[in-house]
Amino acid sequence: MTGPDKKSLIVYYSRKGNNYVGGKIINLPVGNTEVVAKKIKEFTGSDLFEIKTVKSYPKDYMETTEVAQDELHENARPELSESVDNIGAYDTIYLGYPNWWGTMPMAVYTFLESYDFSDKTVIPFCTHEGSGIGSSERDIKKVCPKAKVEKGLAIRGSNVFNAADSIASWLKEKNS
Ligand SMILES: Cc1cc2nc3c(=O)[nH]c(=O)nc-3n(C[C@H](O)[C@H](O)[C@H](O)COP(=O)(O)O)c2cc1C
Repeated sequence: MTGPDKKSLIVYYSRKGNNYVGGKIINLPVGNTEVVAKKIKEFTGSDLFEIKTVKSYPKDYMETTEVAQDELHENARPELSESVDNIGAYDTIYLGYPNWWGTMPMAVYTFLESYDFSDKTVIPFCTHEGSGIGSSERDIKKVCPKAKVEKGLAIRGSNVFNAADSIASWLKEKNS
């Protein structure tokens, strides 16, 4: 969907394992955001990069919410284990994450602060359990003031396997 002279990269953070989906705790072999990221790859042919933290989060959902809340309050920057070595090759970044406490996981802040996004287009997408995209679009703009941050897509985690049509029409709108 992107033109031949444009290269786009899908960057996402997603936590597999126990999660709260549709009112109950279930074990997700593939995280919800990862499902959406791979759909976007299928539709756009973009490259894919997963944000991974050095320290993993607890398997337990409630414990993870507590660790994540502490990180948010401390404005932490969890260390990442992988990096993109050719970010300059991409002019559009699809940026995906779960809504954690109303914004992005702090690891996504670490990612955004690790590169120069001047003049790049950042297109957010988010999975959530009711809070939508939260404050994340504004938060991305604060961290990447020189990027063009577009309106994002929010998908309920319990709906990711039924979201192909909304993802496709959102992409069409972004690339028209
Ligand atoms: C630490 C943590 C905090 C969360 N906070 C929120 C929240 O504030 N609002 C919301 O709608 N969902 C919240 N959720 C639910 C996730 O956003 C949702 O399950 C998402 O689809 C998980 O994506 P993933 O499987 O890609 O990690 C939270 C989940 C976790 C683990």
